[in-house]
Amino acid sequence: MNDLDGKHIVLGLTGGIACYKAAELCRSLIKAGATVQVVMTEAAAQFITPVTMQALSNRPVYGSQWDDREPNNMAHINLSREADAILIAPCSADFMAKLLHGRADDLLSLMCLARPIESVPLLVAPAMNREMWAHPATQRNLAQLTADGATVLGVGSGFQACGETGDGRMLEPEELLHDVIAFFQPKLLAGRRVLVTAGPTYEAIDPVRGITNLSSGKMGFAIARAAQEAGAQVTLVAGPVSLPTPRGVTRMDVRSAQDMLQAVQAQVQLSDIFVATAAVADWRPANPADQKIKKDGSGNTPGLSFVENPDILAGVAQSARARNGELFCVGFAAESQDLQANAQAKRERKGVPLLVGNIGPATFGQDDNALLLVDAQGVTDIPRASKLELARKLIAEIATRTRAKGQK
Ligand code: C5P
Repeated sequence: MNDLDGKHIVLGLTGGIACYKAAELCRSLIKAGATVQVVMTEAAAQFITPVTMQALSNRPVYGSQWDDREPNNMAHINLSREADAILIAPCSADFMAKLLHGRADDLLSLMCLARPIESVPLLVAPAMNREMWAHPATQRNLAQLTADGATVLGVGSGFQACGETGDGRMLEPEELLHDVIAFFQPKLLAGRRVLVTAGPTYEAIDPVRGITNLSSGKMGFAIARAAQEAGAQVTLVAGPVSLPTPRGVTRMDVRSAQDMLQAVQAQVQLSDIFVATAAVADWRPANPADQKIKKDGSGNTPGLSFVENPDILAGVAQSARARNGELFCVGFAAESQDLQANAQAKRERKGVPLLVGNIGPATFGQDDNALLLVDAQGVTDIPRASKLELARKLIAEIATRTRAKGQK
């Protein structure tokens, strides 16, 4: 199962040096399962050849509104009717202005104007020099395009081909791919604020040593991504892991359970949903040393003693906002046996409406897993799948349950 299976994307290229990135984007869309029909303006063909785009998309490229390969000679109608979305990448400042005015003097602009506006969304990835991007005319056009229903995917910032540095670069192909995939996900959590904890914690013994666990953080990061794709505003409090931050998610890096607790307490007041996937250390060394503990040659080992860490989830679940239904709390439980009974008992002990059980040793570090959702009504199985697919299903379950509880 690929993220864009069954989707047909018309990829429009307009004149700009970012056309070189469109080649990679085309490949990525296809790898993600989409079929891609490329349409290029005359200016785009100055930057990259139609042959390149034809070879990558495995389809002849369209460039002229007078293309007699179409039996009815109406490429603008035929191409736009087949599309699940039209993506203009790169979209030049000039092409933005054309779209805005409903100009239709070449195939691509004609096709955008002729598209069924309700069923064929238009996504735009602008690319231009920073002065052109900042110009009031471009910013005005951008606002109007958005008001007209187009989705403007934003721009990157940094070194530009012209030698200047600033805003206006086209987003990177992998960022655009993410945005296209996210665009097609149902907006089940639109406007909701979601807080997720993920990864292990690290509890210091001395400045160079500590105890931690094998949690990879992958499930929590997948949940943060799925919530963002579903339209939520997401904050991810991450223990020490080396995973990339999901696009559009605000990340706070923490180390110990106490750091995590502090970050959560600061954020949870602003959240509607709290999903605790972190594998928080149960104990921490009672007296971490200020300096590295040295071997003294006597053969004696340091006598470590431990204190229990705060239970972040149980504490949050006891807060007034959670108890009066303004904050929906979800816990995770990694068990090694009797998943259902253990998960149900843990749900009650932690005082959360929904607890997600999984078999611990089978999930740590893996890319796929299976989940068992336990709530007051009973259990729901989510069969084995990639962590991202599981996360999307879990987000749908959370959306249903929070709606039933009357969250907006
Ligand atoms: O008690 P146990 O560690 O099995 O509970 C797991 C759930 O509780 C997870 O959702 C985990 O993120 C959360 N938890 C927590 N703070 C702790 C321990 C667990 O938030 N100190």
